[in-house]
Amino acid sequence: MRPVLAFAALLAGIAAAPMAAAQGDALRQERLAQGRRVAETWCANCHVIGPGARGPAGDAAPPFDAVARMPSTTEMSLRAFLQTPHARMPDYRLTQQELDGVVTWILALRRG
Ligand code: HEC
Repeated sequence: MRPVLAFAALLAGIAAAPMAAAQGDALRQERLAQGRRVAETWCANCHVIGPGARGPAGDAAPPFDAVARMPSTTEMSLRAFLQTPHARMPDYRLTQQELDGVVTWILALRRG
């Protein structure tokens, strides 16, 4: 192998790991953006969907950051809740992508 090729291969090896992480980040950012859109469109009438969001008309529904901090809240519990009909909440039939987004959005509020 010529030295310049060996150097290129070395660089490619070094670059691969952070690139994979950056791709994961990009996917997460995309999901968060999607989740925020879904939440603003479908959930904000009843839930405070995040920090600084406008409050809904009533306070029957828990704010999303409170939901995120409940010990019982997990990715699984959110998915299960959102995929089953509820008496006091519309049944949205979110697409898989919308569901991924809004679950990622709610769980991200746990830190906030
Ligand atoms: C018409 C009003 C309304 C809308 C719109 C609404 N919700 Fe709710 N939601 C409620 C009420 C009321 C509760 C609490 C009572 C209950 O658990 O049934 C609730 C509870 C929840 C909970 C469960 C919290 C817990 O106790 O585990 C989650 C998660 C949730 N909503 C997510 C969403 C998401 C995501 C959307 C938008 C896609 C949404 N909601 C839209 C009224 C609404």
